[in-house]
Amino acid sequence: MVRAVSLSDEQFRAVMGSFAAGVTVVTTRDAGGRPLGLTVTAFCSVSAAPPLCLVCLSHGASALDALCDSGVFAVNLLSQDQAELSRRFAGDEADRFQGLEIERGPETGCALLPEALGWLECRVWQRHPAGDHEVFIGELLSAGTRPGQPLAYFRGRYAMLAP
Ligand SMILES: Cc1cc2nc3c(=O)[nH]c(=O)nc-3n(C[C@H](O)[C@H](O)[C@H](O)COP(=O)(O)O)c2cc1C
Repeated sequence: MVRAVSLSDEQFRAVMGSFAAGVTVVTTRDAGGRPLGLTVTAFCSVSAAPPLCLVCLSHGASALDALCDSGVFAVNLLSQDQAELSRRFAGDEADRFQGLEIERGPETGCALLPEALGWLECRVWQRHPAGDHEVFIGELLSAGTRPGQPLAYFRGRYAMLAP
């Protein structure tokens, strides 16, 4: 077995970036119901029974405290024409929801983005600190899909699946 004893930040980013990921916007809400959200590729399915998924949020993410306090989040799976939304939710706009017509998830009140390829509403089932990120395992409360093609992220660029 080959073990890396020391891995530079650059090597870590290079290898992780070589995994083609779907792009999501994870949303939550604060105590006053204000929506918060950020772009996240660290999302995956965990279990079918019970239905679980996970997302990893940086300890520096401004939505972290609200997610911990509310105990709920939603995952919006972006479609291939939503790269602009991905940029917006990873950028420094004061209000990322400005001008967006969002829906509120019926189970959690978290923001659901129109035109997303799919959405999941989750209640935090477990939470694990992991280095500089927090892993949230969510139990699915509701979910849905729409027709379309996914937005992907690969080696620092947005990508689309070949038709
Ligand atoms: C394609 C892409 C994927 C990202 N994936 C994650 C992720 O999985 N987890 C995370 O915490 N931040 C991720 N980020 C970074 C956050 O979206 C970004 O730092 C955001 O500004 C954090 O929200 P904040 O500024 O409100 O703290 C990603 C950014 C991009 C562009």
